[in-house]
Amino acid sequence: AKDMGEDLEKVLVTEEEIKTRLREMAAEIDAAYAGKDLLLVGVLKGAVMVMADLARELHHPAETDWMAVSSYGAGTTSSGVVRILKDLDADIKDRNVLIVEDVIDSGLTLSWLVGNLKSRGPASVEICTMVRKPLAFSVDLDVKYIGFDLPNEFIIGYGLDYAEKYRNLPFIGTLAPHVYQD
Ligand code: PRP
Ligand code: MN
Ligand code: MG
Repeated sequence: AKDMGEDLEKVLVTEEEIKTRLREMAAEIDAAYAGKDLLLVGVLKGAVMVMADLARELHHPAETDWMAVSSYGAGTTSSGVVRILKDLDADIKDRNVLIVEDVIDSGLTLSWLVGNLKSRGPASVEICTMVRKPLAFSVDLDVKYIGFDLPNEFIIGYGLDYAEKYRNLPFIGTLAPHVYQD
């Protein structure tokens, strides 16, 4: 399509709703980590938008770092077997880590990541995600900060991609079936 709008079915969360929710989440995070060290860990590439906007809503002098991970296996769903493509620059021993994600779908990526980061001896590891999908309830994952619980649809935008596209939509919406049906 010439324009991303042609590939969109409907808007689920507007730009304004994202901004409002991020403000609320940032206030909670500011309160929880007041006077404490905080390292935000963004998971590339989906988390770029939420990291950039959340970090700017915080008053806390948090640091930011990034990881890139890739799940093995074919298909569009993750297998739970993850490999690190880019590791953290920071040593997280005795530090408070807050993982920042765009979406938790099966929850397999984060289950693995939380285990991996906890093995490095941090003071704490918590999770912040813009979107949680219903499948995530089937894994044992304690998610402290959740932007929106959304249904199990093909969602795109605000970091979420389909075949690497649509991450740059400023809102979250569903993908029109014609895009993936032919
Ligand atoms: C997506 C998304 C999460 C993960 C969630 O990343 O950004 O990181 O999948 O899926 P799960 O809960 O089923 O494990 P992806 O691996 O597509 O990489 P990307 O961030 O570069 O799009
Ligand atoms: Mn991702
Ligand atoms: Mg992806």
